[in-house]
This record gives sequence, C-alpha cells and structure tokens, in this order.
Amino acid sequence: MISEKDFISTSHSNTIEKGTYEWSAPSNIALVKYWGKKDHQIPANPSISFTLNHCKTITKLSFEKKSTSIDINETGNSFSFDLLFEGKPKEDFKPKIQKFFERIEVYCPYLKEYHFTIDTQNTFPHSSGIASSASGMAALAMNIMNLEKALNPTITDDYFHQKASFLARLGSGSACRSIKGNIVVWGKHKELDGSSDLFGIEFSSKVHSNFENYQDTILLVDKGEKQVSSTVGHDLMHNHPFAEQRFLQAHHNLSAIKSVLENGNLEEFIKIVESEALTLHSMMMTSMPYFILMKPNTLEIINKIWKFRNETKIPVCFTLDAGANVHVLYPENVRVETLQFIKDELVGYCQNGQYICDEIGFGAQKL
Ligand code: DP6
Repeated sequence: MISEKDFISTSHSNTIEKGTYEWSAPSNIALVKYWGKKDHQIPANPSISFTLNHCKTITKLSFEKKSTSIDINETGNSFSFDLLFEGKPKEDFKPKIQKFFERIEVYCPYLKEYHFTIDTQNTFPHSSGIASSASGMAALAMNIMNLEKALNPTITDDYFHQKASFLARLGSGSACRSIKGNIVVWGKHKELDGSSDLFGIEFSSKVHSNFENYQDTILLVDKGEKQVSSTVGHDLMHNHPFAEQRFLQAHHNLSAIKSVLENGNLEEFIKIVESEALTLHSMMMTSMPYFILMKPNTLEIINKIWKFRNETKIPVCFTLDAGANVHVLYPENVRVETLQFIKDELVGYCQNGQYICDEIGFGAQKL
C-alpha cells in the first residue's frame, strides 16, 4: 500500500535555475459527498465526483533560485512567493498558500530554494459562489509537480499524477479529485481497488454511455461569500450526533453508485445523488452550531426540477455544494429540452439570471 513516505522527494538529478509553467485544473462536483475529516486532511468517508470541463483555474508558476538573484539570508529559511490574482497582487490569498507550502514542505523540500510568482485566474466569474479552492489547489499542485519532474526526470507519469493529487489534497480535500479522470474516487472503499485516503484515483470500471458528456448547469442562486467556510463545516462533523451513521451511508452510497455508473440506471443515479445533496445539508442543519445554507430560491428550483421530471420523465436531477447554488445534472441526449426548461423556469431564481453550462471533463492540462 502507498504511504505518505512514498511522496517524500529525496533525490534531484538536475539543477534548475529558473522557469515558468502554466497549468489549468477544473472544478469538480461530488456525487457522494466528502463532509467530515480527520487530521492531515484524511476524509471521514470516501467520495466520488464528476470532473468539470469549463469551470477552471489557470495558474502560471514562475520560479527563480534564490541564491542567484535574491538575498538568500533574507528568505533562505522561509517560503518566498508573490501572489497575483487576475494579474494583480492579492494579499488575502497569501495565508492559504503559506499554509499549503508548510503542509507540503516535507514532501517537496526544494520549495524553499526558490522564489515563486503564482499568477492565477478563474474561468468562472469572480465571487460566483463557486468554490475555487479545488481547481486552484489542483492547478498549483500540477505546477509544483512540473518543477519536481524537471528536478527529477525519472519520476513516472503515474507517480506525477498521484503525488499531484496527494499535494492538492493537503491544500483542499476536494482538490485531489481535480487532477485526472472524468470520474474520481477519493477515500478508501473496500469495493474500489486502489482507492486511498491520500489521493484521488480515476474510477476504473467501464462507465455506461448514459454518463458520457453528462451535463452540469450551475444555477447561481447566491453569489455571496460562503456563510460557512469548509474548515468550519467539516469541523461540525466532530461530535455530530449522526456522524457515524452518515459515514456508513456514504460507503453504501458509493457501492450503489459504482453499480449505477456501470449499468446506466438513471433512476437509481438520481436517488443517490439527490439524497446525498440533501444529507449534506441536513448534516449542517443538525449540527451545533446549525446552519441553513439553502436559500428560498434553492428550494423553488428543487421543486421545479421534481415537477418537470415527474411530468416529462426526463432524468434531470440536482445536487448541491455547501451553499445555495444548484447543480442541475442531466444526460447529453436531453440537453436541448433541459436547457429550454432551465431558461423558461429556473433562470428567474438565479441572481441576475446567471448560470454556467458545464459538463464532464478530463482533468488538469498543461498549457
Ligand atoms: C461540500 O474540499 O472545500 O464540496 O478540505 O477543508 O478544503 P477542505 O474542504 P473542501 O470541502 C468540500 C466539501 C463539499 C463536498 C465535496 O466536494 O465532496
């Protein structure tokens, strides 16, 4: 079994003075949710997600060896980086990156040898209420692995992706599902060979054609700042009265969705996915302190989706993140009718009528 120690970088055969890489990484939407974690970003239960295609972070990492241009005494013993968001310095993102570097230092000891400029931007609108931490941490992890590969060209592609996912997880749990593959599993599950708490793996079964190019239209119900940060949210699962039951349920739902992804049963898919979304929110409603993260319009949309599905038998369903926005999921062959329904009946519940059309994608890409 692969352990944390396997990700400690030791030998460098090459010296690299400076350079620039650029990677994009997508967001992902969980079908079985990660909610609750142990120390060191170990999930309390396994999760599975669709990788998105259009909602991405694009990150350019420039680096220069400290001894060449910057006073090594000044910054030699600490991380040195500038952070730009959409080309402008962004001080308030820096603590998160600093913490990320601290967490991954033992696995990437070369980081302190360089000064970095991290230049990042998202393809989705700023403050859309869409979490950028998954795509952002995944894009940064790919850049860092690019540097590691330059320092040590012997590392294999498999190791490269596994370690990128491992590093991304240490930045934000769900980020480890944004590296590689259409459908990604993170967290040890007895029926999924190779699954690990340490990194995401591509769902390895043959997926039914019903799920090819599966669509995700994200309805922006509330674009404000998240009411509950994910750190606070996950913490709510400690001493939660229903936690153990919930973690067990996630294992069952993962077994069930594995079969569904293989056999294409959309009715079962819908049951699992909607139940997962509502369970996630019910965990927040039954914790102490308690939160309601849905807005009235979230419920309006859910009811409209249920009505439309009943009347038309079109297999459209919803899922939610830890917020009020709604992800509308449906197969590609009902795209036209579903988009028409969204435009006619759901857009009115979105803030400024905004929504984003996305679909399953493949993962991070070098630009
Ligand atoms: C509700 O990955 O944002 O989206 O590990 O603290 O960064 P941290 O949490 P994060 O949690 C995501 C929770 C979720 C469900 C999911 O994506 O599985």
